[in-house]
Amino acid sequence: METQFWVDRWQAGNIGFHRPNFNEYLQQYWPQIGVDPAAKVFVPLCGKSLDLTWLAQQGHSVIGNEVVEQAVVDFFTEAELEPTRVQQEHFEDFSHGDIRILCGDHFALREGDLDGATAWYDRAAQVALPPETREAYYDKLAELMPVGSIGLSLAFEYPQEQKDGPPFSVEEDEVQRLCHGRFSVELLDRMDRLALEPRLVEQGLTRADEAIYRLVRT
Ligand SMILES: C[S@@+](CC[C@H](N)C(=O)[O-])C[C@H]1O[C@@H](n2cnc3c(N)ncnc32)[C@H](O)[C@@H]1O
Repeated sequence: METQFWVDRWQAGNIGFHRPNFNEYLQQYWPQIGVDPAAKVFVPLCGKSLDLTWLAQQGHSVIGNEVVEQAVVDFFTEAELEPTRVQQEHFEDFSHGDIRILCGDHFALREGDLDGATAWYDRAAQVALPPETREAYYDKLAELMPVGSIGLSLAFEYPQEQKDGPPFSVEEDEVQRLCHGRFSVELLDRMDRLALEPRLVEQGLTRADEAIYRLVRT
């Protein structure tokens, strides 16, 4: 899936994944997973998520990554913040107060770019990527996050043959396989989204769960 796919979606306003509220599972589970309140938090494939703001409100420094410039500009504009912008080798670095977003490709991130982040939050990141790049996504996460780092990771699960992604389905056995030897995996909850979102039934899905994991870099 090329960057242009996402640029086109942002340009067309085809961003149904964006939520106008803070994520309910983030609010419920983040306080329980043992992240140091002083930890810097990495948010991969962050879009213009309001969750960046929620994490900053909890006292964290937040560092997002997003490949589409429009998403980053929209985030700061809608938050009524004027970021400083610094062009770096692989990224344009947008920064205001406790929130920084590196605008560029997730796979170009290098150790040191995250400036000491020891926690991360994945909502609609792993499920946005085509299945063939999922392993590389976890490889990069393992490269970037130091041992002991804690992540809250959300994943959709549905019969993939019933619908094309994104979002793609990422089942628990695959999360376990991808994490093997580098992250410990604890399933915190599994929520039935079919019951909560009738449009998923209209799309033809017979099962749609959201799985919520606590991951620790080992
Ligand atoms: C499904 S959206 C989720 C955005 C955000 N996490 C949220 O919850 O609203 C996925 C985002 O990842 C961005 N993206 C896709 N591929 C990327 C890549 N290789 N590096 C960085 N961002 C990427 C897209 O532009 C899009 O904004």
